[in-house]
Amino acid sequence: MISRRILVISRSPALSRAIQASLGPGYQVVSSTNVIDVADEVREQGPFDVLVAGPVFASHAGMARLAGLRAAAAVPAVVLALGPKPKVSLSDIVRTGAVELIEYPTSKRQLANSLQRAFDIADVSQSGTAPAPPVVAQGVVGDRPQFAEVFTVASSSGGCGKTFYATNLACYLAAQTGQRVCLVDLDLQFGEVSTALHLRPRFTISDLLSREPVDDDDLDEHVEEYLEEHELGFSVLAAPFSPADADMIAPKDVYKVMGSLRRHFDYIVVDTPAQLSEIVLAAFDHSTRVLCMVTLDLPSIRNMRVFLTTLQKLRISSDAIGVVLNKVEDDIGINIGDVQEVLDNKIVSVLPYSREVMKSINKGSPALISAANSEIGKKLAGGMHQFLSGDVTPVLGTSANTAEISEARGFWRRRKGRTSKVPELERA
Ligand SMILES: Nc1ncnc2c1ncn2[C@@H]1O[C@H](COP(=O)(O)OP(=O)(O)OP(=O)(O)O)[C@@H](O)[C@H]1O
Ligand SMILES: [Mg+2]
Repeated sequence: MISRRILVISRSPALSRAIQASLGPGYQVVSSTNVIDVADEVREQGPFDVLVAGPVFASHAGMARLAGLRAAAAVPAVVLALGPKPKVSLSDIVRTGAVELIEYPTSKRQLANSLQRAFDIADVSQSGTAPAPPVVAQGVVGDRPQFAEVFTVASSSGGCGKTFYATNLACYLAAQTGQRVCLVDLDLQFGEVSTALHLRPRFTISDLLSREPVDDDDLDEHVEEYLEEHELGFSVLAAPFSPADADMIAPKDVYKVMGSLRRHFDYIVVDTPAQLSEIVLAAFDHSTRVLCMVTLDLPSIRNMRVFLTTLQKLRISSDAIGVVLNKVEDDIGINIGDVQEVLDNKIVSVLPYSREVMKSINKGSPALISAANSEIGKKLAGGMHQFLSGDVTPVLGTSANTAEISEARGFWRRRKGRTSKVPELERA
């Protein structure tokens, strides 16, 4: 008679064979390779007493998937059977709520002991004293939406701070929501995301697209294998190692990759080059928000005005567009209120020029972390707060926005109807 049912999810059948051998008769071991839709697997084949998650889950995304399962109270007890030195943080492991962590491969005796302890905990859990779903950071791990929210960071001029902002936004979303975040470097020729984060990616988007055949199913199954995990809890899809590789990537490939990532993650942040290439347009097709970086110099502002008009022509919803004014310094002859007016009142965040930014990039640590208590750290976080799901819908407007925006708006209101102090802006 079967007394216990165990679901083992692993790429290789060896783990479930070893578990069956360690437990003997009376235990039904169901083996699955479906690492993506774990919840479906549990629902369709369950109920189970214990889920054993194999080495394939040893990534931030894998751990987050298990955390979601825990939040849904889908299985009474989870056992992690990860390889030696798994590339996951302790906090990721804790969030899964796993009751045992096995360094796999291991002996039959160790497997049997760990599973027995898991059965004991499952019994307690099934008797109705299961703990409440975990609260992580300031967000709650819960059901994820079917498609990720996508923030694309763009600009019409180079060097405005897109990479700086995109890396910090990914870090912010991961820390604040505890959900799955992927940062995609679509500056395919000269991407600098990995450098800015001191990552050494093993794979890039080129490797992902060199798979044969690259159809949607294949991408969905393998896309996470090509991501690099950042220790701050988000994944990175790196730009190609060489510009020649970048040339081989077509907009339709980017569109497919973005679609696949949206099914795996809760938030995607996209860094782009400083032009409206077809690749960037493919990213826009998946974007729920476009954040446009601009600096306080006339060429940048002029170009941004043209850029915003182009976005309008591309039928990108006006509510989805926000402008981030970066590297702001006092006394440079241009007034934020005037710029706000010229840019259709779209400024959603104002960031000061700060030496901390370059220091943070040289350290490979986002300014949000390395300069958390400085002005730039606080203003970054203050501005990004509005992007959290369910918080504020319109990018501009009514939000709990940064103080400087209210100031800028107040100023703009006071100045409305007057001539700009900077005539060039009027003609921009
Ligand atoms: N608020 C800031 N204060 C000071 N320096 C900044 C600030 N934001 C960005 N920088 C610096 O400006 C430079 C350009 O930033 P970044 O690489 O993020 O821009 P970008 O828009 O991605 O550029 P590109 O168009 O070349 O990809 C970097 O050296 C960065 O350190
Ligand atoms: Mg850049």
